[in-house]
Amino acid sequence: MRPLTYHHTLASGKDDLMKVLVVGGGGREHAIVMKLAESPKVTALHCAPGNGGIAQYAQCHAVKATDLDGIRKLAKELAVDWVFVAPDDPLVMGLADLLREDGFRVFGPSKAAAIIEGSKVFSKQLMQQYGIPTAAYAVFTEPDAAIAYIQKQNTYPTVIKADGLALGKGVILAENEQEAVEAVRSMMEDKIFGESGSRLVVEEFLTGPEVSVLVFTDGVTVAPMISSMDHKRALDGDQGKNTGGMGTVSPNPYYTEEIAKECMETIFLPTIRAMAAENRSFRGCLYFGLMLTPNGPKVIEYNCRFGDPETQVVLPMLETDLLDIMEAVENQTLAELPMQWKAGACACVIAASGGYPGSYASGKEITGLNAKGQLNNAAVYHAGTKREDGKFYTAGGRVLGVTATGDTLPQALDAAYAAMGDVQFEAMHYRKDIGQRALAAKQS
Ligand code: AMP
Ligand code: GLY
Repeated sequence: MRPLTYHHTLASGKDDLMKVLVVGGGGREHAIVMKLAESPKVTALHCAPGNGGIAQYAQCHAVKATDLDGIRKLAKELAVDWVFVAPDDPLVMGLADLLREDGFRVFGPSKAAAIIEGSKVFSKQLMQQYGIPTAAYAVFTEPDAAIAYIQKQNTYPTVIKADGLALGKGVILAENEQEAVEAVRSMMEDKIFGESGSRLVVEEFLTGPEVSVLVFTDGVTVAPMISSMDHKRALDGDQGKNTGGMGTVSPNPYYTEEIAKECMETIFLPTIRAMAAENRSFRGCLYFGLMLTPNGPKVIEYNCRFGDPETQVVLPMLETDLLDIMEAVENQTLAELPMQWKAGACACVIAASGGYPGSYASGKEITGLNAKGQLNNAAVYHAGTKREDGKFYTAGGRVLGVTATGDTLPQALDAAYAAMGDVQFEAMHYRKDIGQRALAAKQS
């Protein structure tokens, strides 16, 4: 068992010292903050809005990530050198551009580039135009036309996706005609995802193992991070509703070196070149949600940012200084920066509030954490917590991501689950089978 260790002593007295503001407030942002805290170049860490766990490592400010004017004002008041914009919505709204106009160095793509996540119609058309492998699809602006198409195809399951952002819930896998018709009507007529559903993509259902690959890119060079596997369903055995993610492991054993090479040539580089050709050069972290189908790897989705909870198992494996990478991305010198990853594996298990992703209670006291909100043998990335009177309380659907590294995946999983046994809150729920599919892949 190899627990994660963090160096919280922030250096001072050098010229290249940096104040960094991280925008966002979940487990992903906690992992980013803790990785930045390891950098000897980072002198001060701020986060907006942050959460109870992040507040132990960064000064938190009560400004929402989507309050673009509020974030700009805060960055100016704090006189930070860098702003790291982690969530999708402020990026799609153009926060990175506004901050760059204000003179800040920013980690995160422009609004023009963030559309790769902000519009599924855009991303599907991009892939079609540039020959990037993805599921066959059609776009609709009228419910009756979408339904007529689905009935004519008469192939189930079929996949129905809202065009815009929908908190990761805008994808419906319909098992039959009735479910498909309901999905179309709920998105287009009942507007369950608001304006995000005014256009729809109807897509071919693909099969195969899923892999998440995050890459750093400066618009020219692609530096892939260690691969990972998400577990999106709420319950063991991939049962229950889709969630934001109930756990992750890295690396993903399905993602062999041969497949990685194929993805670089047929997906990663073509995507970066396509975005540049469209005058939407992408700088930041681009997330490829891939499916390894019998006909080769295909793109399920792009995200314009770090994944959550993928980040929680990817950044702990990164040895290179994250601030050096941010600089190389912004200066377009990524090709010159050697990047190092730890050997071994990492596992993150999410502790959620009972009822999530449906309705759940908040404000439950969390016991077992130390004063920093951590555990002795694991890193705890807080997703939804607040701290009051020296105690931690639940404040969200996903509450904690208990994370451990190990020389092997079984060791990382054992360490994460052992640590999970030390935390408690009322109606706490976590999956007991995180990593089992990955282990099965290794044996086959
Ligand atoms: P997304 O919100 O785009 O990540 O989609 C959520 C989940 O739906 C994915 O992780 C896949 O498991 C599934 N999914 C999305 N598109 C397809 C597809 N074309 N075929 C099969 N499954 C899909
Ligand atoms: N874990 C999937 C996402 O961040 O969208």
